[in-house]
Amino acid sequence: MSRIPIVIDCDPGHDDAIALMLAAASPEVELVGVTTVAGNATVDKTTRNALAVLELIGRTDLPVATGSDVPLERDLVTAEYVHGATGLDGPEVSEPTTRPHELGAVAFLAQILATSDQPMTLIPVGPLTNIAKLVAAHPELVKRIERIVLMGGSIGLGNITPAAEFNIYVDPEAADLVFRSGIDITMIGLDVTHRARLTSDHAEQLRPTGRAGAFVAGLLDFFVANYQRRMGFDGAPIHDALAVASLIWPDLVKTEPFAVEIDTTDGPSAGRTLVDRYHVTGREPNARVGTSVDSERFAGLLLERIASLD
Ligand code: BDR
Ligand code: CA
Repeated sequence: MSRIPIVIDCDPGHDDAIALMLAAASPEVELVGVTTVAGNATVDKTTRNALAVLELIGRTDLPVATGSDVPLERDLVTAEYVHGATGLDGPEVSEPTTRPHELGAVAFLAQILATSDQPMTLIPVGPLTNIAKLVAAHPELVKRIERIVLMGGSIGLGNITPAAEFNIYVDPEAADLVFRSGIDITMIGLDVTHRARLTSDHAEQLRPTGRAGAFVAGLLDFFVANYQRRMGFDGAPIHDALAVASLIWPDLVKTEPFAVEIDTTDGPSAGRTLVDRYHVTGREPNARVGTSVDSERFAGLLLERIASLD
């Protein structure tokens, strides 16, 4: 079986951390590198968290390149209210002993795309700032991107405003550029990620399985309680891991092609993904959008893979 080469662009973040672990545990994909971006927390914190998570699972060989510290045009909005002050509140997170890659995220992505012998799949699970900069600075490399499978947006309601999902809201100009790029995009939005949850029962199943399992259980202790308190959810959506899972198991999330436009205004719908579900605009689809998910299968597969880590 040939493995799909991927780069994860992330802002860990509880669900980002679990997405990294899922990718590292999965033979269907080859995680060739990680880039970080400001989003859930400032980029120094998200980079530290990415390094720490990879070290915890023994993957210090994986390069982590530091990305953008601010959105393209707007002030940075972070999500301490979701992920805590560190971006990864809950379990003890050891200070990483490794350092970020010498290249910044955009230069690192450009280098990987230019030198890899296969086109690369990008999995952005934070604001799209790095990816937009890459596309703008290196249009000649766009053809080296096999596809983008991103976590962001929503056909329905938002989570940071009634209209907008966090990743797109933080940098709508970047999202607009990416959605207009002509790249093959799959959008894994809240419509499906809100149905991809892990509960405290799942945490108890994972806790005794090893270091990785205990760490994810610690993440879930914080994340599940937070989602219960803020949104009344039974279980926490593991948003970003669903984007990775949808690539690993292509029949897990049903996607449909729609025209998607980003609201880059400053009004109450700023950062909204306007998904033309009923084809009323006559625009050609520019993304495949997740519309349903097998929630139980997701939880089962995710648990199995995390437990398989040491
Ligand atoms: C997205 O925002 C972040 O809080 C999560 O990591 C996820 O990528 C969900 O809206
Ligand atoms: Ca994220």
